[in-house]
Amino acid sequence: MIEELDQLQTEVLASLETADTSDALTAWYRETLGGKGSVQLMTRKIGSLPVEERPAFGKRVNEVKEALQSAFDVRQSAVKRSEMDADIADGGIDVTLPGRKIRPGGLHIATETLREIYKIWGDMGFHVFRSRDVETDHYNFELLNIPQHHPARDMWDTFHTTTPGVLLRTHTSPGQIHAMHQHYPNPIRVILPGMVYRYEQVTARSEFQFHQVEGLAVGKNITFADLKGTLTGFAHRMFGERPVRFRANYFPFTEPSAEMDVYWGLESETDYRITKGTGWLEVLGSGMVHPTVLKNGGYDPNEYSGFAFGMGVERMAMLRYNINDIRYFWGNDLRFLEQF
Ligand code: PHE
Repeated sequence: MIEELDQLQTEVLASLETADTSDALTAWYRETLGGKGSVQLMTRKIGSLPVEERPAFGKRVNEVKEALQSAFDVRQSAVKRSEMDADIADGGIDVTLPGRKIRPGGLHIATETLREIYKIWGDMGFHVFRSRDVETDHYNFELLNIPQHHPARDMWDTFHTTTPGVLLRTHTSPGQIHAMHQHYPNPIRVILPGMVYRYEQVTARSEFQFHQVEGLAVGKNITFADLKGTLTGFAHRMFGERPVRFRANYFPFTEPSAEMDVYWGLESETDYRITKGTGWLEVLGSGMVHPTVLKNGGYDPNEYSGFAFGMGVERMAMLRYNINDIRYFWGNDLRFLEQF
């Protein structure tokens, strides 16, 4: 039996020498060391040997297996090497070609627009004040002069958490109160950027999350003329030298309140559609900080006054780049994102 095994070893080693392609090697392996290969089958014969011969035979089988495995490994690496050399020689691989390019990422259009907004306000002396995304009802509504059951709460459909009184901010305005608490009694000139959340149906014009940039100026003798002048200056830098107009509006935390429109034009069909036929586009809400809100922030409304505004960032980008559906912003479609 041991002779039979030695014989087999000699034979398969000889056939290994003739295997000169990867395919041939794979086949050789299957026929010898594989589960139903000749060496494996020989191993099973151990049961037909007299008990005293079994240990020697078993030992020999293992030696043969190991020897064949290492012969196979050596042969395989030689074959691989020569196949690669052949590939290179007949031009299958051109090692002088440049590698595949890994493209750098880019800034998201919302981030780019935010940075542009920071820059314009920065030039006017406003610094960035960060405020939290998870807020309390107290800050998001009460301190902004919107008590429980006030009908104005309908303006902001809210995501509530499972903790009573804790919610996702529906606007960046609660940051006004945090900024006042932190700056009192100094004058304030800040912008408050961030994500806001609204429990709303997603459509081409509304998302359930988007960025806002809030602004707040508090000091002595700040008037509505300051509000108009500052916001007009911003609009001119953001949208070019277009006419702007202010329309009276209502917000519980500002009095008086105004919305600012930028003249867009009425030349093309798109102009008609996005301005609803008026030629004007609403770009932000604003107003003089309500005395109650100043008081809630710790400032005496008889001594201090201020203005505030809030704008939607994706909205700004839509206007500047003629994007007609807000859902593209968070749709993660590179064909959209790569355009900017
Ligand atoms: N917070 C308001 C909104 O989300 C916008 C606003 C901010 C209006 C500041 C006036 C002053 O609709």
